[in-house]
Amino acid sequence: MHVPTLIEKTRDGQPLEPSEISALIAAYVAGEVPDYQMSAWAMAVFFRGLTDDETAALTAAMRDSGRVFRWPEGTPPKVDKHSTGGIGDKVSLVLAPLLACDNLWVPMVSGRGLGITGGTLDKLESIPGFNVHLDESAGLRQLEKIGVFMAGQTGDFCPADKRLYALRDVTATVPSRALIIASIMSKKLAESVDRLVLDVKFGSGAFMKTRKEAELLAAGLTAAGESNGVRTTFLLSPMEEPLGHTVGNALEVREAVETLQGNGPEDLVSLTLDLAAILSDSPRQILAERLQNGSAWEKFLALVEAQGGDTRAFEDWTTFHPAPVIRPFPAPHDGRIVSMDAGRIGRAAVQLGAGRHKTDDSINPAVGFSGIRKVGERISKGEPLLWVHAASEADADAAAQAISLVVR
Ligand code: URA
Repeated sequence: MHVPTLIEKTRDGQPLEPSEISALIAAYVAGEVPDYQMSAWAMAVFFRGLTDDETAALTAAMRDSGRVFRWPEGTPPKVDKHSTGGIGDKVSLVLAPLLACDNLWVPMVSGRGLGITGGTLDKLESIPGFNVHLDESAGLRQLEKIGVFMAGQTGDFCPADKRLYALRDVTATVPSRALIIASIMSKKLAESVDRLVLDVKFGSGAFMKTRKEAELLAAGLTAAGESNGVRTTFLLSPMEEPLGHTVGNALEVREAVETLQGNGPEDLVSLTLDLAAILSDSPRQILAERLQNGSAWEKFLALVEAQGGDTRAFEDWTTFHPAPVIRPFPAPHDGRIVSMDAGRIGRAAVQLGAGRHKTDDSINPAVGFSGIRKVGERISKGEPLLWVHAASEADADAAAQAISLVVR
């Protein structure tokens, strides 16, 4: 294999053979192709795109770069959901235990926050003691016991994606449809799930800014799932305002717990039930009852306990990562909230310390926003539009400057 020739072909829009793509990925993971050549190839893909066949070959090569889960015969259907990332998106925390109330297994391999979008692992890690590092056999034992685990990617799970993603993050090559499809679907296919639902977001707080872009991405992701025998369905969901009333890791866990206890905000409950109804054999009405009657909450407690988390954290919220500074952001005048920029709120949350600027940054679980009012609501002058949770007065000032909510 002559790597410069492969880069040249992609740069000039000539399709690569599947065998060339798998050889390139295998050599990259083996350390035989340096990052500078892989960056050049990723940039060529960014500008030229890949054909459907090339995308399928890249997805398969990345899936096979590490361990692919093998589930024992005769076990329940395996299901999962993937969101392309949003602001205040805590759906997985509610959905995974809700689905595990059915005769389904939910082997959920999640990620950390990416750019301005939050990550399920960071949220879970705000629960004291919660262990997101499970290997396949620990995961299997937990599925046999309670039907669900929520864990991070281990070193031998899609290592090609791990390396390529980190490279894309620092070479401005993340927003390439072909690379996003291969990245997401290689991980979902390596979970060997039977059914997958994709929550493809569009709007100011999402990677895809327009509905059209989201539709194209959704079609590509779905084709990759279906052609590999996974029943794959998608929902397009707007991300112009945050989901629910909170943004920030511990604040979102609290809202997810309230939802599991039957007191969730309407948009979060409705999206969770829409996604669950696609994967589950139970009707939406039964799923809604499980959020109301404590079944999903009991399952969540079992999940937290199984992964070493301290469930006493949920009994007294004043002790659950209180931020040093909590202050209201008042409405400037009476009116109706006409718009809210989820992208700016996401960036302000990262600035507060809820997300990362570099992959090895640590995050502050306490900071973010709560009590976020919804577009369309009426509000009186001086009433809080939201509450800022910050590590210092200066950080709270900066966050208040950065957010954008329009009241008319
Ligand atoms: N999420 C992923 O896992 N990969 C991408 O490329 C984008 C979002």
